[in-house]
Amino acid sequence: MLQDNFGRRFYYLRLSVTDICNYRCNYCLPEGIGCGRSLEGENPLSVAEVGTLVRAFASLGTEKVRLTGGEPSLRKDLVPMLEAVRASDKIRRLAITTNGYRLPSQIDDWHRAGLDQVNVSIDSLDPAQFHHITGHDRLDKALAGLDRALALGIDTKVNAVLMRKYNLAELDNFLAWIRETPVTLRFIELMRTGDNRDFFVSNHVSGDDIETLLLREGWEQVIRTRDAGPAREYFHADYAGRIGLITPYGKDFCASCNRLRISAQGKLHLCLFADQGFDMREIIAAGDSEALAAHIRELIVDKTAGHQLHEGFTGATRNLAMLGG
Ligand code: GTP
Ligand code: 5AD
Ligand code: SF4
Repeated sequence: MLQDNFGRRFYYLRLSVTDICNYRCNYCLPEGIGCGRSLEGENPLSVAEVGTLVRAFASLGTEKVRLTGGEPSLRKDLVPMLEAVRASDKIRRLAITTNGYRLPSQIDDWHRAGLDQVNVSIDSLDPAQFHHITGHDRLDKALAGLDRALALGIDTKVNAVLMRKYNLAELDNFLAWIRETPVTLRFIELMRTGDNRDFFVSNHVSGDDIETLLLREGWEQVIRTRDAGPAREYFHADYAGRIGLITPYGKDFCASCNRLRISAQGKLHLCLFADQGFDMREIIAAGDSEALAAHIRELIVDKTAGHQLHEGFTGATRNLAMLGG
């Protein structure tokens, strides 16, 4: 089992399959930075390389793999990629995080390839505001895809980054929506990155303040499983849906970190806000998953106790599209 110097174990791998995104969300890629282009270079991991990576991580105890982007559905070979992850019988949960644009047309294929979980970004339920935030008038696509994912029985969650000037006023609408809609809606604290410094200062909303509000309204916290993501979840008897809070600025967020990340170029990032990624491409391309696993074991000792976001330090992460968040 892969364990770091702080006793944390890593059951959950976030694998970025492209750093290209077809949206330009104002908090992530302000003014179109990197829109439709790769920041890290062409030639992302191939299906065979993903297979090698997953075999190596599975041998080290990984039980859940989430494919991220940029936008993962921009990969034309996404279905074979899902199948390559599924080929390892140690991987119990296979997930995708998507902006939802291609969900209606592709979710059936992903489901057939063995997808268990999908997280869809929906930062506003108002079409005009959704357009304003993402640069695209496509809320209907995300909602239609969500309905289909739910109909297929896929574990489906919605991500909304809360922003003071763009969607905080929609909080009551979001809550009214999950009264009848059986999804987990996760409010994500806006994170400072290299590209969004001014935006961060004027838009950050504290997740702890949202928690205080929820507890006052009768929401109760759910117990976390070991391969769960970073969210604290809450339920309420009057609501079909649940709420999740992702609060990287909250106390002790990093103490329960159970995940590692691979960039689309095959670099291992020990933290979302690490100083650097470790280039493993050569070993990955050689296809030897045992050698790769041994290398990962050596690198894990460098994982730090946590990020330094509170001090304004964002590491090598210019934006979350580079690494899939
Ligand atoms: P589940 O596995 O379904 O719980 O999903 P997840 O929350 O792990 O994945 P998702 O891709 O939906 O990420 C939601 C948000 O959590 C994104 O903004 C991520 O950047 C953020 N996030 C996930 N893991 C970490 C982490 O380790 N550190 C920080 N700071 N943010 C994280
Ligand atoms: N802060 C918080 N969440 C972010 N995401 C992208 N950039 C940021 C940021 N700066 C979210 C997206 C998506 C998830 C993968 O990461 O909205 O839901
Ligand atoms: Fe883990 Fe780094 Fe995220 Fe903290 S910021 S939870 S250490 S990846």
